[in-house]
Amino acid sequence: MLNLFPTHILLGKAKNADNEPVWYPKTDLSMHMLILGRTGSGKSNFIYWVVSQLLPDIPVWFFDRKEDFRHLLRVTSSDLLVFNFMENFKCNPLCPPPYVKPKTWVELFTELFCKTNNLLDGSNSILLKTLNGIYHDFGVYDGSDKIPCIYDLLEALNQLKLSPRSRSGGSRESLVNRIEAYIATNESLFDCSIGFDLEKLLSKSVVFELTGLLEVQANFWINFLLYWIFEYRIAKKERGNRLLNVVVFDEAKAVFSPFENSNIGFRPINYMISMLREFGVGVIAADQTAELNNSVFANTMLKVLFPLGSGQDIYKAQTALGLTYQQIQYLYQLGLGEAIIRHPKVKEPFILQIPKYPLE
Ligand SMILES: Nc1ncnc2c1ncn2[C@@H]1O[C@H](COP(=O)(O)OP(=O)(O)O)[C@@H](O)[C@H]1O
Ligand SMILES: [Mg+2]
Repeated sequence: MLNLFPTHILLGKAKNADNEPVWYPKTDLSMHMLILGRTGSGKSNFIYWVVSQLLPDIPVWFFDRKEDFRHLLRVTSSDLLVFNFMENFKCNPLCPPPYVKPKTWVELFTELFCKTNNLLDGSNSILLKTLNGIYHDFGVYDGSDKIPCIYDLLEALNQLKLSPRSRSGGSRESLVNRIEAYIATNESLFDCSIGFDLEKLLSKSVVFELTGLLEVQANFWINFLLYWIFEYRIAKKERGNRLLNVVVFDEAKAVFSPFENSNIGFRPINYMISMLREFGVGVIAADQTAELNNSVFANTMLKVLFPLGSGQDIYKAQTALGLTYQQIQYLYQLGLGEAIIRHPKVKEPFILQIPKYPLE
């Protein structure tokens, strides 16, 4: 799309007497955007519309659970890669990002894997010890770039001398079962020492399709990739409030679940979202209900509200957006392609009219 105002994106037109265009600075996307609306209300269309104005300057990563975004391939002239975790992605999650110390990565990976997979402390300490052992054996701590893969980890775990009846035997078994479940979904995914070059992928727009994965696995991969960017940028000392990447979560509930428990279903993204800005990552989160973690409401600067399905969602959204009773009533009058928007530069919420993105 031809954009006459390249530092900004055009969100749409205000629905008022003047119908003035509504602009939004691209860099402010690093303060994240939340889109709520029931199925069919126009969320995906709005995401296409916004994202098409970011490409190709700002690479966008889509975490896609419904094969929605591969359709962008047909219309975008910029490069867009589509990877499916069940089919054609390759990754060795044990390989530390460039600049990140192996020791740091072993600790982070252990925490991430155990927590996203609901594994308890016993498994955590076995995984940490075993990973340290194989990194050592492979010489990673001495600078070798031969990195063990998941199969090496599995072998090392199976070789531990633990009685199956002991507690640690049980912890090992849980760990092995989880790892085998990942391998079972797609053996060739892990069959690599390094995998696809994530550093290079950071400069490209990518659809990561998570269809067919168990929810814990989808969560693991999403959190893994975000952790990866985060640690990479910390280690590279890439900070500052520039917008470098945008990540899109349609169906954000799966990632930003409201249920929090320090051990079960832990999703680091919930605490990362407040820090991602510093590392140049803007989040666009969309969902059909308002049943989301408070971190999302608290950390999204721009909020876009399409019609919602239930009274409970409307109430939650009203509170989160700080709308009055009168303002939320507009929700019942919105036509297709219209949304209530809370724009940081405009004092009162107003109605935005969004163009249809020409997907066909
Ligand atoms: N701004 C708009 N103008 C016209 N039609 C729209 C607009 N937004 C969405 N639509 C149409 O409405 C339908 C549902 O939109 P979609 O974006 O898929 O909704 P959601 O993602 O919320 O389920 C699609 O057929 C889409 O083409
Ligand atoms: Mg949609």
